[in-house]
Amino acid sequence: MSFNNILLEKKDQLAIVTINRPDKLNALNKATIAELHDCFKGLRDDQEVRAIILTGSGEKSFVAGADISEFANFSPEQGEELSAKGNDTLFNYIETFPKPVIAAVNGFALGGGLELALASHIRIMSDNAKVGLLEVTLGAIPGYGGTQRLARMVGQGKAMEMILSAAMISADEALQWQLANQVVPQADLLATAEKLAGKIARNSSSALTAAINSINAIYEAGVDGKKVETQEFGKCFGTPDFVEGTTAFLEKRKPKF
Ligand code: COA
Repeated sequence: MSFNNILLEKKDQLAIVTINRPDKLNALNKATIAELHDCFKGLRDDQEVRAIILTGSGEKSFVAGADISEFANFSPEQGEELSAKGNDTLFNYIETFPKPVIAAVNGFALGGGLELALASHIRIMSDNAKVGLLEVTLGAIPGYGGTQRLARMVGQGKAMEMILSAAMISADEALQWQLANQVVPQADLLATAEKLAGKIARNSSSALTAAINSINAIYEAGVDGKKVETQEFGKCFGTPDFVEGTTAFLEKRKPKF
């Protein structure tokens, strides 16, 4: 599969997806969102890939937002469609992706860029990262899940403050606010993400999917998360990985997943 706006590298059971529009600070235009969807769809079925790292090209920006030039003239109906389609094809798609997705945030993560990081399962930020949901400065609000995911992550009060004031916060503040899982020097960002992804990838992939589904269930409206956990737990017992994992433990050897 070849792409114009993203780069895909595979190594050691990992895929590294790099958004590659550095001259536009990796802003998410329609074509990039479509390519990211196609890329992730391919990775979903790729048996060799057990975890994904999502990052931006260059040292300045992860993603500086949705591409403002594409929607500046939209009507309310087109705006609603933009949000709904983006959520379906990318943001919700990544949040519910069956393989772990780590965002390696290498600079600006603004608007849709922070929303993409929030939709990912884990966020590692470089020390130069600056993140914020700035949409109110454009006369809009976050439309790719940002109001919901930010509030869940940092609490309603802080989300109100951050979104209403269009604050751009540093990586260290993001860590303090539990928006970042880790902050590392920029030179170490990818190596840190790869190390964590590698550690994750050694575990049972069917169990990883079950864990992602169960944790995500906390926030699904009308869904009983504990019930989802019980069901996912039960399903694990029918997987080859469970047989291998438990047998390996009892035979005092490492499992081969
Ligand atoms: N949409 C479209 N283009 C964008 C963009 C976005 N969200 N963010 C940056 N770009 C483009 C700029 O228009 C510029 O293109 P040009 O060289 O063709 O004029 C290029 O990326 C470089 O950006 P520039 O603004 O010159 O860099 P800077 O270092 O001076 O400022 C930012 C960096 C991130 C502060 C600034 O680009 C910015 O405010 N971007 C928009 C952030 C935002 O509001 N995001 C939310 C959108 S929903």
